[in-house]
Amino acid sequence: MGGNEVLKPSEYISNQWKNTVQIFQSLEKIQIVFPIVGNFFGHFSNRWKLFKAFFQSLENGGEEMRMEAGTIETPMFVVDVQRIRRNLERLTEVKRRTGCRILLAQKGFALWRLYPLIREHLDGVCASSPNEARLGREEFNREVHVFAAAYSEADVRALVQWVDEIDFNSFAQWKQFRALVESAGRPIRCGLRINPECSTQDHAIYDPCAPHSRLGIRRAGFEGESLEGISGLHFHTLCEQNADALERTLGAVEERFGDLIPGMSWFNFGGGHHITRADYDVDLLCRLLSDFQQRYGVQVYLEPGEAVALNAGILAATVLDVVRNETDIAILDVSCTAHMPDVLEMPYRPNVCRMTDDLFPPPEARAGEAGEKAHTHRLAGLSCLAGDVIGDYSFDEPLRAGDRLIFEDMAHYSMVKTTMFNGVQHPAIALYDSDTGTDQLEVVRRFTYEDFKHRLA
Ligand SMILES: Cc1ncc(COP(=O)(O)O)c(C=O)c1O
Repeated sequence: MGGNEVLKPSEYISNQWKNTVQIFQSLEKIQIVFPIVGNFFGHFSNRWKLFKAFFQSLENGGEEMRMEAGTIETPMFVVDVQRIRRNLERLTEVKRRTGCRILLAQKGFALWRLYPLIREHLDGVCASSPNEARLGREEFNREVHVFAAAYSEADVRALVQWVDEIDFNSFAQWKQFRALVESAGRPIRCGLRINPECSTQDHAIYDPCAPHSRLGIRRAGFEGESLEGISGLHFHTLCEQNADALERTLGAVEERFGDLIPGMSWFNFGGGHHITRADYDVDLLCRLLSDFQQRYGVQVYLEPGEAVALNAGILAATVLDVVRNETDIAILDVSCTAHMPDVLEMPYRPNVCRMTDDLFPPPEARAGEAGEKAHTHRLAGLSCLAGDVIGDYSFDEPLRAGDRLIFEDMAHYSMVKTTMFNGVQHPAIALYDSDTGTDQLEVVRRFTYEDFKHRLA
């Protein structure tokens, strides 16, 4: 861009609307910050809300924003706001029962359009980088915590503008950056990540306690070190686990680090707590949290990502072609490696259904294991990767080009980990609220050639 830009009439109009949008958004902010002055603007603001959807559709490039669920475009991530709300209510219950604080782990879910809703329930966010920290400050604006395996000086210089807490992964980094953090001109708490050396799961790739792990300081690493200036400790060792795994981990933490805890004011139990899963033992979690806080007089934090968006979103896809090589292979307009990379990385097998008007179909509607129903297909992506394969599934009727499928539980991690490999069309993002009783979607983001091009230079 640059130079004298010649705008097409449609672009000019779109820019004018964008300016209008910004002005009205400022009015909304004034109303929050200065209620008296804001009341004056209230009249305009209410009118504004009526037209907001229309303005936003223009902001999105003038495309239709609402459509019937049964005819949605693909590829598209659809997140059900009501399911997010339900998850948040469960987390709020844990907060209410125990007095713990809960942060959204943005690495797991960062659909910031929903941060105003999440902010009503959770205490802040945790970040893994300056980018996530800045997003948390700009869009969430409650507590912002950060942890990364290592920081560069540029990272720390950026982070101190946005974070309330920074956790270090080694004494060397803490000592290197202590002065920089303490001279930031705003209060920033500092903590250390510990490694309790207690593996409670089989996925080595997600086990920070696995042999030779770089994540967290083992107890031996504390010998001869001063904790002056450190106000809390942090561990993250769980992945999609129940409260019994936390109980075992806390046993190891207390055994190895118990003598250090009384000197701390807070303790972060990380993420990996599958609190919003139906069989999660919330009572045990609450007992563990209350007991730990009472015994040590510390403020406990949890920072779940997955639990916030568990079972709250789908990825909608269309069959583009069916080819045969010993088995029937349906090639979709999504890519496993680009759009659901954890299926390959973890690995796991997502649940799949044919798309109907119900974007969140009941379990009975799911495709079967290979050979279970009459027609087995391999579901595969459209990229060049030979291994771009989601898995083998069976259906009552054979799949044909044009058929549409739903991949369940795709709101967490999949959405933040997507890539534009091969330049494949990135799924649009839509919101849906099953609580309103309508089957309408709001498309909040579509991705264009420009998004692809500008990632590369
Ligand atoms: C330090 C830390 N905190 C929190 C989380 C969030 O975990 P989950 O999304 O499984 O709850 C992770 C995930 O990797 C993490 O590394």
